[in-house]
Amino acid sequence: MTVVDNLLTGDLANLARLRDHAAFTFVQQDIIKPLQIEGPVDEIYNLACPASPPRYQIDPIHTFRTCVDGTLNLLTLAEAKGARILQSSTSEVYGDPEINLQHEGYRGNVNTCGPRACYDEGKRAGETLFWEFGAHRGVETRIARIFNTYGPQMHPDDGRVVSNFVVQALRGDALTIYGDGSQTRSFCYVDDMVEGLIRLMASNEKMPVNLGNPGEFTMLELAKLVLAKTGSAVPMTYLPLPQDDPRQRRPDIARARGLLGWQPVVPLDLGLDRTIAWFAERVRADRQKELLPS
Ligand SMILES: NC(=O)c1ccc[n+]([C@@H]2O[C@H](COP(=O)([O-])OP(=O)(O)OC[C@H]3O[C@@H](n4cnc5c(N)ncnc54)[C@H](O)[C@@H]3O)[C@@H](O)[C@H]2O)c1
Repeated sequence: MTVVDNLLTGDLANLARLRDHAAFTFVQQDIIKPLQIEGPVDEIYNLACPASPPRYQIDPIHTFRTCVDGTLNLLTLAEAKGARILQSSTSEVYGDPEINLQHEGYRGNVNTCGPRACYDEGKRAGETLFWEFGAHRGVETRIARIFNTYGPQMHPDDGRVVSNFVVQALRGDALTIYGDGSQTRSFCYVDDMVEGLIRLMASNEKMPVNLGNPGEFTMLELAKLVLAKTGSAVPMTYLPLPQDDPRQRRPDIARARGLLGWQPVVPLDLGLDRTIAWFAERVRADRQKELLPS
């Protein structure tokens, strides 16, 4: 297995268990540059891209290039190697959706000229490249539209809502709520997502498939759950809703159920317990490091 990553948002520590494996190679490279991989390649999972608004908005043109130039480079590699390739697309292709339960036929409501456009439109363009290589260049393409996914080993300062709330509660900081907290998201535990991605790769489906957990929660509900589970009594601070923030998000996974026999099995309650346990250890270790004399 070869992992290619420029470590923009990734952490080498997350690969610790794999690095001593004889069949494992790590290449530190940006995918916007063409890739030279020796030998045969069977499957490519394109997971490269910063995924939270605070991270992908640091360098929006680089984010867009990762989604377009990077995806083109990986498709070119797949074509040259005769490899099957899967794209990690996103629910953000639906933008701020006008329908609840977003199905794959819905064409979305995306602002092309706004702070989220570099990611949303980049991922839409990535799907177009996948469709072209699949329809006209004979490449075995797969497109997963991933909805909010969380779990252990996320970066504590990544800026996604689950890691934000958990880390804030554990550090004793106020929980940041954007708007009035009534906007909704659906949260999928990472193990369920990985299973869905593997099943999609193994399937024959070239058109996009939603992968996510249809359980829908408001941000206030999530905040209260995190406070209860961490035993924290920190207050909530309210900030203005960011521009183009989706009001609602909930996947219709009928196609994933039918085509892949897949549906999430880890409820938010259990997934949060596992995630909080991992972050609690991380926050404790960070505190100990701060206390050590330098
Ligand atoms: N987690 C989610 O909720 C979610 C939802 C929808 C889509 N996705 C997509 O799934 C993929 C993985 O997301 P994640 O949540 O694991 O995020 P992540 O930030 O943990 O992982 C992304 C990885 O890509 C690497 N990367 C970024 N730009 C790169 C580049 N130009 N070249 C090489 N490597 C690069 C980062 O260093 C990091 O290791 C992303 O493409 C993201 O857009 C994730």
